[in-house]
Order: sequence, then C-alpha cells, then structure tokens
Amino acid sequence: GPLRVLVFGAALRAGSANARLASLVVRLISDTGATVDHAAMHDFDMPLYDGDVEAATGLPNGALALRDRIEQSDAFVISSPEYNGSVPGVLKNAIDWVSRVRPQPFRTKHALLVSASPSLIGGNRGLWALRVPLEHLGTRVYPDMFSLANCYQAFAEDGTLIDPGLRQRLTETVTAFLSLVEADVRYVCLERR
Ligand code: FNR
Repeated sequence: GPLRVLVFGAALRAGSANARLASLVVRLISDTGATVDHAAMHDFDMPLYDGDVEAATGLPNGALALRDRIEQSDAFVISSPEYNGSVPGVLKNAIDWVSRVRPQPFRTKHALLVSASPSLIGGNRGLWALRVPLEHLGTRVYPDMFSLANCYQAFAEDGTLIDPGLRQRLTETVTAFLSLVEADVRYVCLERR
C-alpha cells in the first residue's frame, strides 16, 4: 500500500508558524499519493514527566496516543520551533514520555525535521538539538533538514511559500525523504518474504 507518514506540528499556540509549515508538508506529501496522518501537540495532552506519576498510573493517555500514531506510520515529520537555541520543553517532554513505552516506537522509524522561525537564520540549532534524543532512541533522522527563516513573511495566502527557491527546496527535501523511506520499506518487505 501507500506510505503512511505522520506529520506533527510541535507547537501548542493556535497561530503557530510551525503548524502552517506542517500543513504545507501535509499537502506536499499528499500530492505524492502517500497517506498522511496530520497531528498537532494539542492532540496529545500529557503532564510533565514524573517518575512517581508513571509508577502510580502508568503512561498518560496522550503519550499512548502519540505512541500509537508513530507506530502506525512508516515515517514521521516534526515541524518544531526553536526555543533558546534548542528543543521546546513541551516537545522534549512528549518524547520523554513516549520513550517509556515498551516497545518504544521511535526505533528504526525515519524522520524528517523542519522548523519555522521569525529569525533571519531560522530554527536550525533547535533541529540539531532535536536530533539528539531522536537518534538516541534509534530514529533514522534524515540528514537534510529544512529551516524556514523570516516565517511571518514567508507564507502566501494559500499556505504555500512565497519564495520560489524555498518552495522548490522544501518540495525536493520532502520528495527525497519519501524516496528513501519508500526504498527502505520495500527492502524490509522483501527481506520478510
Ligand atoms: C523563541 N523564539 C526563538 N526563535 C529562534 O529562532 N531561536 C530561538 O532560540 C528562539 N527562542 C525562543 C524562546 C522562547 C521561550 C520563545 C517563546 C520563542 C521565537 C520563536 O521562533 C517564535 O515564537 C516562533 O513563532 C515559534 O513558533 P510557532 O509557535 O510560531 O510555531
């Protein structure tokens, strides 16, 4: 069947530029014929990680729901803001909770990281920081990342990117990522025969 890709906007606020970028990636992936599961941080309500809460009540439903949606996908895309040069605490908290599930779903999954930032250098430092926990968990994080600078001026009314060069680069990054995932999924199917 078609590839299943989870696209996850990691910011909570309604007007999130990263939510807009996630929506654009959803469209680009849908255009290739892949099946997209569009998620946002609001779908996964969870408290701050606390080992006592885990011992008493186990994993919160929000973490279990996120685990399920990662598990059901062949690959995932995270669109995350950069906070103080690093990963937003809300996203790191979600990764920490989900990492406690056995089997944890990050292992062997492919991931593409993208970011939108109002700064002129984009959110690339945050994405480099996000690689650390994901790679620790065994995710195959795509080497290329897409960091959208000047994000409040970057989108056209229809949700596409105004700059043709950036539009092309995002499309090519997503397409190349999907080709890798597709080749790998096919290879795994052959191996299992
Ligand atoms: C920011 N912002 C920010 N931007 C950036 O490019 N580098 C950074 O280090 C930071 N640091 C930072 C810390 C905190 C606590 C906040 C709240 C914000 C700005 C950030 O990129 C901007 O608010 C984006 O619009 C956030 O993404 P969303 O919510 O629009 O998706």
